[in-house]
Amino acid sequence: MTPTQGKFPLKAFTRLETPFYYYDLDVLRQTLTTLKNEAQKNRVNVHYAIKANANPRILSMIQMYGLGIDCVSGGEIRAALKAGVPADKIVFAGVGKSDWEINLALEAGIFCFNVESLPELEVIAQLAAARSVTAPVALRINPDVQADTHHYIATGMKENKFGINLGDVDAVIDRALSLPQIRLVGLHFHIGSQILEMNNFAGLCSRVNEIQDRLARRNLMVEHINLGGGLGVDYHHPDQAAVPDFAEYFSTIRRMLRLRPGQSLHVEPGRSVVAQCGSLISKVLYVKQGSARKFAILDAGMTELIRPALYQAYHKIENISSDEDAEKYDVVGPICESSDCFGKEVTLNRVRRGDYIAVRSAGAYGETMSSNYNLRPTPKSYFSDDLI
Ligand code: LLP
Repeated sequence: MTPTQGKFPLKAFTRLETPFYYYDLDVLRQTLTTLKNEAQKNRVNVHYAIKANANPRILSMIQMYGLGIDCVSGGEIRAALKAGVPADKIVFAGVGKSDWEINLALEAGIFCFNVESLPELEVIAQLAAARSVTAPVALRINPDVQADTHHYIATGMKENKFGINLGDVDAVIDRALSLPQIRLVGLHFHIGSQILEMNNFAGLCSRVNEIQDRLARRNLMVEHINLGGGLGVDYHHPDQAAVPDFAEYFSTIRRMLRLRPGQSLHVEPGRSVVAQCGSLISKVLYVKQGSARKFAILDAGMTELIRPALYQAYHKIENISSDEDAEKYDVVGPICESSDCFGKEVTLNRVRRGDYIAVRSAGAYGETMSSNYNLRPTPKSYFSDDLI
């Protein structure tokens, strides 16, 4: 195995308490530059899905590139506003919006509520009436389209809790049009996450075309189409594939989607923007010889990165301290759960106590999904610009 120290400021790491999140801001800048250029070229409006990573420093950089934000809670709306994102670039989705969250969004004057049910539409109308404002609304439609991904992160099939079922769309539109406090401005979709098959997005576009044809027969046209997020990243090659293929993604949806004249196209990428810039850095506490295998026991666990435990997700793991011969280890954390395992039979350069281990592609759904289980402290984050 090739030693990987060069990518990481190992000397600086030795001054820091582990575990921590390390963000390579050059990777983030490259990703954002590509994303921005491709989005402009293809006339796509991007709302970054803040749930993937809400670290204030990351957000402020994303904001500098002029992206909007996709939120699913009042806390996320506050974080977006605090980072300086204009309210009229914020969209707000989620199956369970509380009254205070709706009020916050109405007060801020967001771009659009992505509404997931009829009862939610009624509540937004009531709360808007109480403030004498109108609420811009896109209907989140469950397109019943398959996404080739882990079933926990597929959202666009009819048995999922998300969105309005195709059969109910006409009735919800009728109701929206009858409510004076509601301004129906868009249609919203999201089929799932970590999608690498462009065919899945093409399938979504065909379904959107059908729905638009249905609306056209009623002489209805909305101002915008929002296809949600979902573009995946290459977890196996975080360096070679550091920047996702936004060009392919945008050109697929541009080609497949029949937009009506004047309609704008919106997307909500999360993972593809931030996954590859982040690594979870931890130290080896112990190397333990089990009956059948060797364990590398880290000081980081599922509390810092829950994806392997929750979705059996693969993350590349590297021993960045060693260039000794490779051996196989089960790489585990210190949490009192058997699922607290980052990978089984992982090939690593020979591991010793005190070695630094990088769990790669942890920029998305790492820090935001961290917890204090076992009363563990929240780890710090560090940035490449500050460490030499
Ligand atoms: N828009 C909506 C409505 C969403 O529900 C999501 C993600 C996104 C956009 C952003 O999707 P992305 O581009 O990041 O795939 N914790 C899981 C992922 C959950 C995604 C939830 N919704 C994971 O670690 O894989």
